[in-house]
Amino acid sequence: MSLIAQIQAVRGMNDVLPADVGLWQRLEAVARELLEAYGYAEIRVPVVEHTELFERAIGEHTDVVEKEMYTFVDQGDESLTLRPEATAGIVRAVIGNGMLRGQRHKLWCTGPMFRHEKPQKGRFRQFHQIDVEAVGFPGPDVDAELIALTARLWRRLGVERVALQLNSLGTAESRRAYRTALADYFRAHESRLDADSRRRLDANPLRILDSKSPEMQELVAGAPVLTDHLDAESRAHFDALRAALDSMGVDYRVNPRLVRGLDYYSRTVFEWVTDALGSQDAVCGGGRYDGLIGQLGGEATPAMGFALGMERTIELLRQAPGQSGARSPHVYVIVSGERVATGLKVIESLRDALPQLRFELSLGGGNFKSQFRRADRSGAELAIVLGEEELGRGAAALKPLRQGTGQSECPLAELSERILAALGAERGSRHANGGRGGSIGG
Ligand code: HAM
Repeated sequence: MSLIAQIQAVRGMNDVLPADVGLWQRLEAVARELLEAYGYAEIRVPVVEHTELFERAIGEHTDVVEKEMYTFVDQGDESLTLRPEATAGIVRAVIGNGMLRGQRHKLWCTGPMFRHEKPQKGRFRQFHQIDVEAVGFPGPDVDAELIALTARLWRRLGVERVALQLNSLGTAESRRAYRTALADYFRAHESRLDADSRRRLDANPLRILDSKSPEMQELVAGAPVLTDHLDAESRAHFDALRAALDSMGVDYRVNPRLVRGLDYYSRTVFEWVTDALGSQDAVCGGGRYDGLIGQLGGEATPAMGFALGMERTIELLRQAPGQSGARSPHVYVIVSGERVATGLKVIESLRDALPQLRFELSLGGGNFKSQFRRADRSGAELAIVLGEEELGRGAAALKPLRQGTGQSECPLAELSERILAALGAERGSRHANGGRGGSIGG
């Protein structure tokens, strides 16, 4: 045992190991394809922003800004923060790059976010989001389309244990009326408030509804609901959104308690929740933020967006049947110890001829028995054997690894065709046995 102390990863910040990377790549690929199909363009914004951006956008009395930001002063004496979410940075970029001026933008981005939360299952300090923003659209059509996009994403990924919750927070004015009603209610029960909530009573009583403390839940459950204080326009917006979701067959439940943890929302808010991840039940959430762009110094522009939590989605993918993160090679190449150079030449020309396939060469050699063992463990469907005798005849042997058929031989010149034929047969037989098929290269 080494006496040198190991350096640990930072708590709440995870490595994604090769066995899982396939699941991440699948999520990224499916999301990218879907977002492009809906007309969204990728934008990439910095991981670090001025602290003030998040204070002004997310709200000073939110958990995120009060307790969870990774904030530091850099060598130039500037207060900077690792982004806890992407919306504020994207809005800053849209304003700063002169992209408004009455224009509309459909944008998405992906990457790590940072929140100093208490790490637990499904909750981390570095986590990843796929974030989507539609800027310049008053809705409710875009609200409905974005929600339909998320529903389609779950279908494409084969994720089933998710349910949609919907609410409207109304306009700033109707929220003000509601705030007064809410503050009156909580003030009447002040002795039952925890310290955080007491502090927020005057500053932002809406945040009390978002309290995670178990003792507060009963009190929160009895509080007045915002839906009763909606202004006429917000109500019409909400009704139109619901009619659109109904017409598309997107199921949802109106949850009048859904307020979201960030201050910039107005009107539509939504969240996809799951019962498969314990207490961290939100997989994807968002809403309309019609006031934020003006609040950050841009010309008043309505906007709507959402973010999907990638770690939580990956966990759901892992639980879905028939999913695996590992990416096995299609073909494992076994080569005789003296013929390594020939082996490399053959495998490189196979990579030229069949770029859609994954080949793995038995690097490091060893006897045929141990090479076959490695071939088996690799998960490959087919082994190619480049033995001394076969190569002497200008040939190679093929051995299917996942079914009983024996070894056969073919001239090197025909190898690529024979590989395709053998993989086709292998897939056909697995299909017949009820296994998961799929196109070559998938
Ligand atoms: P959010 O609800 O704070 O919204 O985060 C969105 C998703 O990120 C959550 O539903 C969850 O899946 C994931 N998430 C949040 N915190 C953690 C964590 N500590 N560990 C693991 N996953 C986490 C936003 O961030 C808004 N910017 C969404 C938005 C975009 N609204 C409008 N546009």
